[in-house]
Amino acid sequence: MIELSLVGIGTGNPDHLTHQGVAALNAADVILIPRKGDNKADLAELREALCAAVVSNPTTRIVHFDMPVRDSADANPAHYAAAVNRWHDAIAEIWHAKIRAHVPHEGKLALLVWGDPSLYDSTLRIAQRLKLRLALQVSVVPGITALQALTGAHAIPLNDINAPVTITTGRRLREHGWPASADTVAVMLDGECSFRHIKPAGVRIWWGAYLGMPEQLLLSGPLADVAPHIVQQRQTARAAHGWIMDTYLLRRAT
Ligand SMILES: C[S@@+](CC[C@H](N)C(=O)[O-])C[C@H]1O[C@@H](n2cnc3c(N)ncnc32)[C@H](O)[C@@H]1O
Repeated sequence: MIELSLVGIGTGNPDHLTHQGVAALNAADVILIPRKGDNKADLAELREALCAAVVSNPTTRIVHFDMPVRDSADANPAHYAAAVNRWHDAIAEIWHAKIRAHVPHEGKLALLVWGDPSLYDSTLRIAQRLKLRLALQVSVVPGITALQALTGAHAIPLNDINAPVTITTGRRLREHGWPASADTVAVMLDGECSFRHIKPAGVRIWWGAYLGMPEQLLLSGPLADVAPHIVQQRQTARAAHGWIMDTYLLRRAT
């Protein structure tokens, strides 16, 4: 039996790692760390630094793997799901090869998952593919999500009293507009400041980039006033650091 532990590591602050996460990393024979060539956004160095800080088990080994590049067909919404599926198949194939090479019969693997594996992350879906080919037991160590880091940094509640929250992507906000029956919308995976596609009257925004990291940026206020500042800050920060991750909450007056 191969045991795979998916350890939520939070959003870049080493203090986000839980004691449960530290224990899972130290229990692993192999920790798999993804690399995307020279892409700083793969955060491989941050994952390595985290392991160096907390892994004291001398028998735990770090093994890197190169992330396959996603098919450019995914720019077309009609082909998006198929392209993502092919990409997940390719990642599962690489994990399978690494498992065969490093823990061929039995052993413990760990993967450091950004934030928490439950939120806009496909590690669990990729692991599911491996279950079809291996005797694999998957467990999850929850981590602090980007949304928790955002609401924590702004010291705001996620929801209004007795009100629902919709979590969506920048792409969907652009293509479908404000989600029906939502007063609060949390937006992730948005490289294009998609809040510009929303009618700003009566809407407030709470925005955060590099949440939990020393570079953290926060802006909030009425969308009409703050939107141009976010666009500007995002552009400047992205140019300075070479990458950016940001998340925001939109709330409409009811
Ligand atoms: C692939 S999703 C992963 C989400 C992660 N599993 C979680 O629990 O937060 C990546 C998106 O999460 C958000 N995100 C992750 N880390 C962030 C950070 N440190 N600051 C701001 N947004 C972040 C961004 O919207 C980014 O596009």
